[in-house]
Amino acid sequence: MDETRVRLTLVFIWMLLVLPRCEASKDNCLNIVQYIYHSLGLRSRAQGTPNIAGEWTSSSCEVRPGPQFFTRYIKILQNSTWEGYFHRYNDSQCSEPKLSLYMRGFYKVMDEPLEFIKGSNKAFFNFSTIELYPHNSYEQEIAINTSTRHCRNTLKVVRTLDSTDVFAVDKRAFRRRACRSAFGFSESEFSGLKLETRRKKSSKYDKLYFGGVPTIRAPRKYKPRSYQLPLIKYNSHNCTKCMKIRLGTGARPPKFVWKPPRLWRLEGEWASTTCEASPGGAFLTRHFKFTSSQSSRRWECHYYFYVDSECKKRDFELNGKGHFSYATPSKKVNGAAEYVFTMTEAAIKPFDRITTRMLNTATPNTCGKTGTWKTNVKQDITGTQGCKLYGISLPITEYDLLKMDTDHGDNRLLYVGQRASDGSDPSSPSKRATSFQVPLIECSSYKFKFVPPTTRPTTRPTTRSGIVLSIRTLPTKIKKITTRRRTDRDPGRKTTHSRSGNGSDANRENVGYLYRNSAASLLSKLLLVLSTVLVSTWID
Ligand SMILES: *[C@@H]1O[C@H](CO)[C@@H](O)[C@H](O)[C@H]1NC(C)=O
Ligand SMILES: *[C@@H]1O[C@H](CO)[C@@H](O)[C@H](O)[C@H]1NC(C)=O
Ligand SMILES: *[C@@H]1O[C@H](CO)[C@@H](O)[C@H](O)[C@H]1NC(C)=O
Ligand SMILES: *[C@@H]1O[C@H](CO)[C@@H](O)[C@H](O)[C@H]1NC(C)=O
Ligand SMILES: *[C@@H]1O[C@H](CO)[C@@H](O)[C@H](O)[C@H]1NC(C)=O
Ligand SMILES: *[C@@H]1O[C@H](CO)[C@@H](O)[C@H](O)[C@H]1NC(C)=O
Repeated sequence: MDETRVRLTLVFIWMLLVLPRCEASKDNCLNIVQYIYHSLGLRSRAQGTPNIAGEWTSSSCEVRPGPQFFTRYIKILQNSTWEGYFHRYNDSQCSEPKLSLYMRGFYKVMDEPLEFIKGSNKAFFNFSTIELYPHNSYEQEIAINTSTRHCRNTLKVVRTLDSTDVFAVDKRAFRRRACRSAFGFSESEFSGLKLETRRKKSSKYDKLYFGGVPTIRAPRKYKPRSYQLPLIKYNSHNCTKCMKIRLGTGARPPKFVWKPPRLWRLEGEWASTTCEASPGGAFLTRHFKFTSSQSSRRWECHYYFYVDSECKKRDFELNGKGHFSYATPSKKVNGAAEYVFTMTEAAIKPFDRITTRMLNTATPNTCGKTGTWKTNVKQDITGTQGCKLYGISLPITEYDLLKMDTDHGDNRLLYVGQRASDGSDPSSPSKRATSFQVPLIECSSYKFKFVPPTTRPTTRPTTRSGIVLSIRTLPTKIKKITTRRRTDRDPGRKTTHSRSGNGSDANRENVGYLYRNSAASLLSKLLLVLSTVLVSTWID
C-alpha cells in the first residue's frame, strides 16, 4: 500500500518535471510570446526619465492612416535640442518622394506617464523652425493651395532649389488641422514616448516609440492612446534603409528602390516582438496561426493580456478560432492585401485570481458558466456567444488589411491593420484600416529555446478593483474607455491602497471615481460597481 503510494508520488513528480518541458518545446513560440519581456530581455522603462539622445530613423517605409507613406529621421541632442525630417512619398514603397518637412526645436522628457498610456513618458517638443520642401511643381502647387485655403499667409519662400522653392512655415499654419495634416504632421505624436531597451545588449537594439497618430479625424486636443511604429538607431545592425534615411535632407530626400510586391504566404505561425499597447489601454502580446487547404482557410489566435505595461504579469488569455477569406490586393496600399476574418469559437483562460472572480460574478449566460471559472483553466465561451464582460460577441467578422515585409535581418514580418483610435471595430469594408500595428515576426525567426523565468515572489496590491475597467478592452472589440484605475494616474496612492488592509476604503474611492469618469453606459457602470463590491467582499 505504502509502496504504491510512493510510486504514485514518484510518477507524479516525474510528470511535474518532465511534462512541462515537452509542452515547452512543442509550444516554443507561444511560450516566448507569453513571457516576451523575459525571452527577449526587454526593458521598457528605467526609473525616472529615459535618455533618448541619439539619431533615430524609421526601419522601413511606414504607412500612416490615410494612407500616407513616410520615413522619419529624428536627431535628439543631450543639450535639450532636437531636429528631424519627415519625408512623405507618393507610393507604398517610399520610392517617390513628394514632400519633406524639416523641424527643429527644444525638447523635454517628463517622469510622468501620458494620461491614456501606462508606462509611457510625457514629452514636450517645440518647433522653433519648420521648413517645407515640395519635391515637384505639382506638390508645390498643392502646398500653396492648402495654405491659401486653410492657413493663409503662413508659407514664406526662403530658398529656391532647382525646380521648387523651400518654404518657412509659420507656427500659425499648425493651428489649423487641415494644414497640419496636409503637411504630414500632428503635434500630439510628440506629446509622449516610450524607450525600449534590451538587457545586456547594445543600444543598437533600442527602440523609440512616439505617440500614435489618430486613425480618424481626431478632436483638437487629441491625446495618444497607443504608439506608432518604433524608430531605431540609424546604426542598428545591418539596417541599410536606416543609413539611407539618415543621409537624406530636404533637398535630397531618401528614396528606396521600387521592388515588385512580394508573394503572399500567410500560412504559418506569427508572433509579437514586443509588449504592445492597444488603443483601448490594454497591454498584450499576440500569436497567430494560419492554415489552409483546398477546402478551408482556418486561423487561430492567442492574445495574452497583462496587468502591467511591461507585459510581465499575465491577466488572461483569449484563444479564438475561425476562418478567413481569400486575399484581394489593396487599392489604397499597394502591395498590401485585404482579408475578411471571422472568429466563430473562443475560450478564455484567466491567470489572475481577481480576473477569475470577476468572471465568476458575471451575469449568468453572458460569459461561459458563471461560478465555474478557475484560475489557469481554459473555459469555452462559444456557448454564450462570447463574453459580455469583455465585449466579445461571437461570431465576429472583421475587415482587415495585411502587409508582409522583411526586416534588416531578413526575417519575415506580418503587419496587421491598426485598430481605430475611437475604439470601433473594422466591422465593414469601409472601416478597414489604412495603417498598421507593430509587426509580428514569423515564429521560425525565434531560433532560441524558451527558458521559463525564475519565479520570484511578487508583491501584489491587495485591491485591484479598478482593473475591472482597465481590462474591459479586448483584442477584437476595444471599447471606448476613459476611466483608469486611480493608481494609474497617481502612482503615489498605490501604497495607501495596499496599506488599507481590507481595501474597503480604496474600493469606495474607486467606485466614486468610476462614477465620475466612466464612459461606459450606466448599466454597465452599475454592473461594474456591483461586481467590484462583490469581489471586495470575497477578498475579505
Ligand atoms: C546644442 O548642441 C548642438 C550640437 O552640439 C549645437 O549646434 C547647438 O547650438 C546647441 N544648442 C544649444 C541651445 O545649446
Ligand atoms: C502618384 O501616384 C499616383 C497613383 O499611383 C499617380 O497617378 C501620380 O501620377 C503619382 N504622382 C506623381 C507626381 O508621380
Ligand atoms: C521652445 O522651448 C524653449 C525652452 O523651453 C523656449 O526657450 C523657446 O522659446 C520655445 N520656442 C518656441 C518657438 O516655442
Ligand atoms: C490650385 O488652385 C488653383 C486655383 O484655385 C487651381 O486652378 C489648381 O488646379 C489648384 N492646383 C492643385 C494642384 O490642386
Ligand atoms: C548582418 O549581415 C551579416 C552578413 O550579411 C550577417 O552575417 C549578420 O548575421 C547580420 N547581423 C544581424 C544582426 O542581422
Ligand atoms: C476594514 O478595516 C478597517 C480598519 O482597518 C475596519 O475598521 C473595518 O471594519 C474593516 N471593514 C471590513 C468590511 O472588514
